Amino acid sequence: MQKQLTGTLALAVFTAALSSLQYGYSLGVINAPQKVIEKHYGRSLGVWSEKAGGLSGNSTEEDMFPEAGQHPAVVMYWSLSVAIFSIGGMLSSFLVGFVGDLRGRIKGMLMVNILALAGGLLMGLCRMWKPHIMVISGRAVMGLYCGLTSGLVPMYIGEIAPKAYRGALGTLHQLAIVIGILISQVIGLDFVFGNDDHWPLLLGLSGAPAVLQTLLLPLCPESPRYLYIIQGKEQEARKSLYRLKGPYDAAPDLEEMRREKEEADREPKVSILSLIRSSVYRQQLSVALMMHLSQQLSGINAIFYYSTAIFARAGVAQPVFATIGVGVINTLFTLLSVALVDRAGRRTLTLVGLGGMCCCAVAMTVGLKLQNEYAWMSYVSMSAVFLFVSFFEIGPGPIPWFIVAELFSQGPRPAAIALAGCCNWSSNFLIAMTFPYIQTLLDSYVFILFAVLLLGFTVYIYFRVPETKGKSFEEIARVFNKDRKKSSHPPGDGTELQQLKTSTDA
Ligand code: GLC
Repeated sequence: MQKQLTGTLALAVFTAALSSLQYGYSLGVINAPQKVIEKHYGRSLGVWSEKAGGLSGNSTEEDMFPEAGQHPAVVMYWSLSVAIFSIGGMLSSFLVGFVGDLRGRIKGMLMVNILALAGGLLMGLCRMWKPHIMVISGRAVMGLYCGLTSGLVPMYIGEIAPKAYRGALGTLHQLAIVIGILISQVIGLDFVFGNDDHWPLLLGLSGAPAVLQTLLLPLCPESPRYLYIIQGKEQEARKSLYRLKGPYDAAPDLEEMRREKEEADREPKVSILSLIRSSVYRQQLSVALMMHLSQQLSGINAIFYYSTAIFARAGVAQPVFATIGVGVINTLFTLLSVALVDRAGRRTLTLVGLGGMCCCAVAMTVGLKLQNEYAWMSYVSMSAVFLFVSFFEIGPGPIPWFIVAELFSQGPRPAAIALAGCCNWSSNFLIAMTFPYIQTLLDSYVFILFAVLLLGFTVYIYFRVPETKGKSFEEIARVFNKDRKKSSHPPGDGTELQQLKTSTDA
């Protein structure tokens, strides 16, 4: 019964994941056309002209900046165009709980589409005014949008998915992200849209999935958990369950929600601040935050943001195509994770993924270090990059996004998703900003730093993260509650958490 997958459920998940596609597209789109956009910035700032072959006017600086992207003003505006996206995301991710609870998940997603459309238009029409200002504003608004949806989408999918498919459906958020990255890499090639004529269209297209989503969202059922637990509308929740799961006995689901509601009604509303302060949720919260930190501090985006440069260093003739190869592998392995996550479990896949990435980071370092002595070593570093990405997508990429919704019951869930999202965006920003400096400092040893971090995360997850596969939200909460009660008793060997780690109840 539980295993029913209906057309309405598929439509709802597909519609929600259009936001994730947009997030991936926005992450990837800014890389390929960098040089083209810099030229346009340079021209509009009056510091570069094509005819002069460099700086306009008679400036003696002309020789210093033969390319637009080398002029300090262009460098500054370009860096801001890249970074402001994450700043937008960091700020708005705090509002996920507020937006999701205000009028429901569906209306929340519908409302924030205004941001996506505005961001897309600002970038698409950037030639109408100063392109650098228009692009920076557009990226900021798009960042605000993505910060909200990177919480709202996993929250909605986690709440509507049948228990047996929660992992696979949750992984679709990441699948849509990686497809978005891949699409942006392909249409960002210079002979498609990454050229002088079409780059505003390339950036403006970031807003396109929002148009389709706006049309489809009214057809999707609201989250039954929101309707029942937050709004107290049992009948509407029941209708929503029937739409999502087809004709089935809804009594057990409703009973579970009723108990959760009772519990939520007994407690005061959990705000972000009270969640941070509360000792009740401390363990769940540290697991949630560590999962997100492990995703970002694994160094995955060092590969995504700088892969072309890394491949060039490893001696690849056409690094752009190798980067697209990374996008393809990325997508294939996320698909594999969709198939595996509800069988192998979250914990196992995360451990295998992080452990594998750790070994790849070591191999990459050895390859980069020795490639001048042995030519074949460049194949080692190349293969290590591909494997690094594959291991990431098996577990550490997709799982953190949806496990937070699994770890918390309805009351604290929105606040927890907001905090975890903010942690994700901030650490992403940190890596993007500092990686070039760390690379200069550590040179070929740069990935050793990530290897050490990866080892640390693997150990933490081994000892602290329980398996959530196939458990109801209530059962998961109980794992943490029991563990907390035990830990306040005199020390014993093997906590409840430890015992449940490998449990495989369906
Ligand atoms: C995850 C990360 C994102 C990364 C992507 C790569 O979604 O959150 O930062 O770029 O995976 O596939």
